[in-house]
Amino acid sequence: MNYNFPDTRLLLSQFLVQRYQTEMLLKFAQEEGILRLLESIDTFHINEAIEALQNKLNYQLQDRLRRRMIHTLIYLLQECGYLSLENTRYQWHMIENAAPKLKDEEYKIIEVSFKGVVGFFEECIKYSGDFLRGATPRFNFNAEFTSIWESFLGNAEFNFARSILIELLMFEKKENSNILVLCFGPGFDLVKISERFSNVKLFGLDFAENFYDKAKSKLSNSHTIEWVRSDRWKGFGFPLPFQDNCMEVVFFGCADPYIPVEKRRYAYKEIFRVLKHEGSLGILTNSYPDQEKKYVKDKWIRLGILAHDFCESVCEGWQGFHEAVNSIKLFKEIGYHTNTVMLNASIWRLDKP
Ligand SMILES: C[S@@+](CC[C@H](N)C(=O)[O-])C[C@H]1O[C@@H](n2cnc3c(N)ncnc32)[C@H](O)[C@@H]1O
Repeated sequence: MNYNFPDTRLLLSQFLVQRYQTEMLLKFAQEEGILRLLESIDTFHINEAIEALQNKLNYQLQDRLRRRMIHTLIYLLQECGYLSLENTRYQWHMIENAAPKLKDEEYKIIEVSFKGVVGFFEECIKYSGDFLRGATPRFNFNAEFTSIWESFLGNAEFNFARSILIELLMFEKKENSNILVLCFGPGFDLVKISERFSNVKLFGLDFAENFYDKAKSKLSNSHTIEWVRSDRWKGFGFPLPFQDNCMEVVFFGCADPYIPVEKRRYAYKEIFRVLKHEGSLGILTNSYPDQEKKYVKDKWIRLGILAHDFCESVCEGWQGFHEAVNSIKLFKEIGYHTNTVMLNASIWRLDKP
């Protein structure tokens, strides 16, 4: 392995980040005493586990998000083989080697090639115990955390997915198309599109003002981009500051889990409104692993998504990944055609007829 010029596809196929995330989360569950506690109650309904965690570990699990974290952790333990589920009751199983530890060589690759993403997850996990005991969120989208988001979101996996989504969205679009990059964050989506296409009209919109300078600093063509200031949009649940039918493409990456659940329909209706006839919406987001394994099939991807969902819950505004079947239902009800859902339902192209 050449540590300086790793082959992204080869690296991703080894699921190193997902395996490391799973290892970290199991270590957390052990050190917090969660595994011991579940083993001691042996068979339980999820509500009994929640009650035991509140009583014995002092967790504050009254709100949707923290309860959801416990559901997600229990689902991960089930996928690892610690728990089986029959008629809404879980049964504990003592197993060895639920998630084999990475080799030294693999830790080294993670350190070199995935530092930003695993560093972010490590910080989140370190804080999870406090968060479950009621502490306020660890990260938000204010200026002090801009660099944290930058090192997390610039990782090889997300960049690879961005490239695929861009090709998927653009292959039959015309020159001079209007492309809105919604929630551009530190700017990686804009960079990827600009590198690939020079003849499109890019619009950038984010609700967090501090991302504008960060994104501009990455772009040599920054002056050609129409920066729509954050004071024109209060965020999800508010109208997008564009006329009807004005965009060929909307690119929406890694932000779906931040749409407040009760505003999700409105947010996607707004995007539908601004898209032109035959326009496309590209979404980059994981889907919550479905029990049937119809949409999210690969074992390590499933575990990685569960660990990711648990970790990012300590960030302000996180709502969680959605099951693909529910997303498809919502998108169809709004009027989108949903023919292209790829790679474990993480890359989506929706079309406005
Ligand atoms: C994880 S970042 C993704 C950024 C970028 N698309 C990328 O992939 O690098 C989430 C984005 O959602 C935006 N966001 C978070 N909460 C929001 C809200 N309530 N309303 C609007 N945007 C929000 C943030 O400002 C940020 O740009």
